[in-house]
Amino acid sequence: MAIYDVSDRSAIVTGGGSGIGRAVALELARSGAAVLVADLNAEHTEAVVAEIRAAGGTAEGLIGDVTDPAWGESAVAAAEKLAPLRIAVNNAGIAGASAPVAEYPVDAWRKVIEINLNAVFYGMRAQIPAMIKNGGGSIVNMASILGGVGFDNSSAYSAAKHGVVGLTKTAALENALTGVRVNAVGPGFIKTPLLGANMPAAQQEFLANRHAMKRLGLPEEVSPLVAFLASDAASFITGSYHLVDGGYSAQ
Ligand code: NAI
Repeated sequence: MAIYDVSDRSAIVTGGGSGIGRAVALELARSGAAVLVADLNAEHTEAVVAEIRAAGGTAEGLIGDVTDPAWGESAVAAAEKLAPLRIAVNNAGIAGASAPVAEYPVDAWRKVIEINLNAVFYGMRAQIPAMIKNGGGSIVNMASILGGVGFDNSSAYSAAKHGVVGLTKTAALENALTGVRVNAVGPGFIKTPLLGANMPAAQQEFLANRHAMKRLGLPEEVSPLVAFLASDAASFITGSYHLVDGGYSAQ
């Protein structure tokens, strides 16, 4: 499997303690980056840091809530202690409540928008100036297939992920000449705790069948795309939304 060399830099991975974020943190560390694993969950963060170190990589953990606007600055400062910050993967997210728009609880709506959209903005506000100072970098924002299409009972999630795509495109345009590239990734349904650890088999099958490949994806099928976009191999790619969805959106 291709490994893109990112050995002279640090990388922030939010939500790095679980699922897609964990796979991305491991992949970037294997590719040489010093990784700041940033997550709310201390136990999971420490486990991923230990896994990276056991494999010979460099990692530190940062426990915190991405919805704290000041958090972005602390993450940048912590990453810069490892190596110049040149990669950020804004990946932390939640699925949120499941209900039609007319019944969607307002608090639940606000929570999803705060974590899945506003926190990406808070993170980028701190990451972009640091990367410009370091001569350039790559930001990868975790959207979803639901950043391009809707899904019954997931209005807040879909609205947040559409927002992430728009935010990504605008930040990319603003930075087209600064050396900071900004892209979004849109995974299909991926087998992670976010999907529901104990999701009934019938529901898993329903979701799997919505993909042309008739199966769910794995975190390790998303992380190579993120590592590529994060690396200098993607030097002419900015402002775009990259699907990794088993053909979901092609139908
Ligand atoms: P996951 O639940 O396995 O991991 C998410 C991580 O984010 C957890 O470790 C959690 O502690 C952390 N987190 C949640 N809220 C946080 C906060 N406020 N501050 C700091 N950390 C926080 O989820 P998964 O599936 O790996 O999702 C990662 C990203 O991928 C999310 O943005 C999600 O929307 C997106 N995604 C997931 C898909 C899926 O089917 N699993 C499909 C498409 C996109």
